[in-house]
Amino acid sequence: MCYAIPGRIVDIKNNIAIVDYFGEKREVLNEFSDVQLNDYVYAQGGIIIQKIDESKALSTLKLWKKRFHELKKIDEKLTNYQEENSIDSDFKKIIRKAEKRIDLSKSEMLRLLRAKDKHELETLFRTANKIRKKTLENSSCVHGIIEFSNYCINNCAYCGIQKDNSSLERYRMSVDEIVKTADYAANSLGFKALVLQSGEDSFYTSDKMVDIIKKIKEKCRVLLFVSVGTKSLEDYRKMYDAGARGILLRFETSNQELYRKLHSTSASKSDFKKRINTLRYASKIGYLIATGSLIGIPGQTEEDILNDILLTKSLNADMYSFGPLIAHPKTNLSNAGLIDINNMLKVIAVSRIIDNTSKILVTTALETLDNENGRKKGLFAGANSLMINVTPRKFKRLYNLYPGRPDKDKEITQNISNTLKLLFSIGRAPTDLGI
Ligand code: 5AD
Repeated sequence: MCYAIPGRIVDIKNNIAIVDYFGEKREVLNEFSDVQLNDYVYAQGGIIIQKIDESKALSTLKLWKKRFHELKKIDEKLTNYQEENSIDSDFKKIIRKAEKRIDLSKSEMLRLLRAKDKHELETLFRTANKIRKKTLENSSCVHGIIEFSNYCINNCAYCGIQKDNSSLERYRMSVDEIVKTADYAANSLGFKALVLQSGEDSFYTSDKMVDIIKKIKEKCRVLLFVSVGTKSLEDYRKMYDAGARGILLRFETSNQELYRKLHSTSASKSDFKKRINTLRYASKIGYLIATGSLIGIPGQTEEDILNDILLTKSLNADMYSFGPLIAHPKTNLSNAGLIDINNMLKVIAVSRIIDNTSKILVTTALETLDNENGRKKGLFAGANSLMINVTPRKFKRLYNLYPGRPDKDKEITQNISNTLKLLFSIGRAPTDLGI
């Protein structure tokens, strides 16, 4: 759970501390040797990332106090609802079970994923939103993402930065550029969690990644995720030791047959079992796991999607990352149709019902489906996390995974202020940004 509102340590035993935020208490992992009872800290993703002095903490808390309670009130108002009477009674029964947080059977989960008419959809989304509020309150994470290279050794059938896309201008950010970008994001823009993402690019050896991570950790008090594909387990160990604490790696689909088809011309390194092993290993050594799949792959069934959600849960995901496939003209899947946004929202809602406490991301690709309201709809269907692209503009336009990325031409500061406006308007606390 992340609150970039300063919290006070009210209990500490070994490396586990309890942090208090205006009366709400969270358990966090402490990696600092000098943190004591009553100290003020920033925590992210359940990990203390910075100790702060009392006077600074108290002045920030003063600013937050009024707003914190105001936002909660707005969230409360928007989450309460009258139930529709006109829905199917079996559907209603499953919803009741979900509300009481009783485990659902697979066929019940599937029935939710197959919600059809407007009434069923609304009931499903609102139930998921209610569960989000009950278990996670109004806290929303806003992570920054730095896309530092668009070189890739793979040829994933859906991806615009695949090796064989010869029409794409390629770039690699230097170590210095990456560290400067992180420094700006953390120390000028206020991000408390950053994701370093690239294609699978062997130019960035583990030594280079270690160097980048160490330099960022020296300058920035942030929770750092790496999203660099299937490197070796040893590489992930080294990146963890250097200070990375999260991994973002989608398994793309849990249907291995489909996976093989999508990756048939990729380097052997990207095979399904290797991805899953990487995630399991990363979890074992302490990384926070962010994973998920693509929705709308030709041939993908609703059972496949349910299995994707269940696999994500079984991988101990701290963050669910599901997004729609958006056809890229230079790929084999250039003809894949765009899915209906409701199908994406159903995945978010069912994920929330199956996993009440994890973070669920609204991906930028969902915004591509509905530029104006995509994020808002996702946040009202059980999601509670967003990412803002902080890649320098000249590179951002070249990180062309799929066409129509809504953030590609906007200034970062504009994206941040739009995001904050959205979150405040619906009563969510943007607890990753120190603003
Ligand atoms: N549409 C949507 N998402 C895509 N990704 C790659 N290509 C596309 C596309 N055409 C996603 C993959 C990958 C992540 C970095 O971007 O799921 O894991």
